[in-house]
Amino acid sequence: MDAPDFVHPVDILLEEHRKISRYIVNFSNLLDNPAEWESAIQNAIQLINHDFVQHERREAILVNELEKLMGGKIGPLEMVEKEHRQLDSLRKRFNQTLGKIDLSALDGTDPNVLELLDIGNRLVWAKKSHFFKDEHFLFAAARGVLPAERLREIAWKMEAI
Ligand SMILES: [Fe+2]
Ligand SMILES: [Fe+2]
Repeated sequence: MDAPDFVHPVDILLEEHRKISRYIVNFSNLLDNPAEWESAIQNAIQLINHDFVQHERREAILVNELEKLMGGKIGPLEMVEKEHRQLDSLRKRFNQTLGKIDLSALDGTDPNVLELLDIGNRLVWAKKSHFFKDEHFLFAAARGVLPAERLREIAWKMEAI
C-alpha cells in the first residue's frame, strides 16, 4: 500500500501540542520579573487568543467527527469537552481582565495586571496539562475509531484553518 499523501489528523494536532508546549515554558519563566511583564502579557495574548484558538478550531473538527461516529459526547469525548469548557471560561476571565488594562501604559501597581498574569499563567498551565487528556483519550479514540477514508478530508479541513 502507498503511503498516504496527507498527514494524519492526530499527528497535526500532536505537532501543535509540541509547539505550543515550548512557548508555555518560556512564558512561565518571565513571571517573576516585572521588567518582563509587558512581553509576558504579549506572549500570553498570542498563546491564549491566537495559538490556542487555532488549535481548538482544528481539534473541534476531530471532536465533531468522533461525536458523529460515537453517537454523542460520550466517554472520552465527554471528559475532554468538560475541560474544554473550563478552559473557555478561564479565557473569558483573561479577556475580561485584559479589557480593564491599558497595554500602552502598563502600570505594575495595577491589581488587574497581576490578576491578568495570574489567570494567564494558570490558563496556559491548565492547557498544557489538558494536552495529556487530549492525547490519551481523544487522540487514542480517534486513532482507533476514525475510518481511513475520512482521514484525508479531516486533515484537509484542519490544514485550511
Ligand atoms: Fe489539544
Ligand atoms: Fe483539547
